[in-house]
Amino acid sequence: MVKIVVVGSASMDLVVTSSKRPGAGETVLGESFKTVPGGKGANQAVAAARLGAEVTMIGCVGDDHYGEIIIRNLEENGVCTSFMKPVTHMESGTAHIVLAEGDNSIVVVKGANDLVTPSYVQQALHPIHEADMVLIQQEIPEETVEYVSQVCHTSGVPLLLNPAPARKVSQEVIARASYLTPNEHETEILFPGLTTEEALKQYPNKLFITVGKQGVRYHDGTREMTVPAYPVKAVDTTGAGDTFNAAFAVALAEGKSIAASLRFANRAASLSVMKFGAQGGMPTRQEVEESL
Ligand code: RIB
Ligand code: NA
Repeated sequence: MVKIVVVGSASMDLVVTSSKRPGAGETVLGESFKTVPGGKGANQAVAAARLGAEVTMIGCVGDDHYGEIIIRNLEENGVCTSFMKPVTHMESGTAHIVLAEGDNSIVVVKGANDLVTPSYVQQALHPIHEADMVLIQQEIPEETVEYVSQVCHTSGVPLLLNPAPARKVSQEVIARASYLTPNEHETEILFPGLTTEEALKQYPNKLFITVGKQGVRYHDGTREMTVPAYPVKAVDTTGAGDTFNAAFAVALAEGKSIAASLRFANRAASLSVMKFGAQGGMPTRQEVEESL
């Protein structure tokens, strides 16, 4: 079993489905409302655990009802929660999601995820030092991404930075990360002034740009490659990126080649969109292998 540590957000997703997305100043009638566990960090932790990794999550929730549900859900999925702290005077993070017209729109309120600070992570260095791979995203403070990249770099632990949602990332962090997995929009924010082709060429086997239904683009040192996604009928694409990142990290940590890891990750992500909820369709190891 490979050891994966996720440093990141854990939230409740408040999901409304509607046939129409409201415009500014407009009110529409929706069809359903559901509350399901989400947050990019927790999603990646659950996905990695279902794929057979030994996963520890480092994060914060509020000492509210959502916080209890979030932690219980991680435990039910086999994620170690010894470093998940319920904090007082702060609500759990929430994501306000509208599923309409075949796509989602999301407003994230960070809440307790903002308390995943460098000094908080400093109390949880042991699992990081022991990890085969650390996964991090950007729903926690920028300083924490900075700090974790330093810790991983000095201790020789590979770090996968999923730079989502989009925000600027320092040159140091880009240099220290082993793998970067932005989508096209995040790529523009990460590498202003560079075309996608230039960015890929500059970071061979390190920069992996996800291009939705088309798959993933990267440069293998010789030429640019695209690993196609698997066409499926999507019910809910929320969390597909998280499933991709977790599966990619697990496969790489297991020593699979980049090409094989990307195929595995694309397969896992395609299965994840076939059910409602960020974590709803996240496949088990067996489900991915049967479909490869
Ligand atoms: O990546 C998907 C996640 O992003 C959702 O679960 C939601 O919490 C948002 O933060
Ligand atoms: Na899903």
